[in-house]
Amino acid sequence: MTIVVAIDGPAAAGKGTLARRVAQDLNLAYLDTGLLYRATGFSVLQEQGDPSDENLALAAAQNLQPTDLENDALRHDEAAQAASKVAVIQSVRDELLAFQRRFAAEPPAGKNGAVLDGRDIGTVVCPHADVKLFVTASTEVRAQRRLKELQDRGLDAIYAQVLKDMKDRDARDSQRAAAPLKAADDAVILDTSDLDIEEVIAQAKSIISERT
Ligand code: C5P
Repeated sequence: MTIVVAIDGPAAAGKGTLARRVAQDLNLAYLDTGLLYRATGFSVLQEQGDPSDENLALAAAQNLQPTDLENDALRHDEAAQAASKVAVIQSVRDELLAFQRRFAAEPPAGKNGAVLDGRDIGTVVCPHADVKLFVTASTEVRAQRRLKELQDRGLDAIYAQVLKDMKDRDARDSQRAAAPLKAADDAVILDTSDLDIEEVIAQAKSIISERT
């Protein structure tokens, strides 16, 4: 019996760090589904295209190769903004869905299951996940975390711009018609605004062990 853990939430809420630790500690395969959208958006940008153009975005999603996900440039905000533009397009989402579902259903041999993080894992990709966590934090806390992350990587960034980008992306992700960002009815909400990462991990692991 393998388990599936779905972790959703807005940008910089701490999903990625949490998902990686849960994967490591519980021997689960991990998929950062944001990378699929980032790689799709980035590939359109590289061709000087507009990520909101459905034909270009769909072709990029169809041609995605596993090695495309390893590009360091995907971590930049330019790729994040492009990701949230291709992500509103239903045909792009449909194209990326099969890969995500297969990853959840068939984790590599030796793994106890899979953890996926994103925006629609509990609602669309894995509606039958054993555990659904919705990880969130206030916009200001998330913008501060993203600012620190950018500065730690030696990148120039100012708080006001990071906050604006975060709000723009939140709005696009929450207000789109296709699989908008929202907690599944049966998700457990984890507000990380006042918690440090170890507290978040401990809470998540206790929820997972209660439910599996
Ligand atoms: O999680 P990350 O910040 O890497 O995601 C980048 C963008 O990809 C999000 O802002 C969102 O628009 C899109 N995304 C999505 N569904 C997912 C994962 C990411 O729409 N499951």
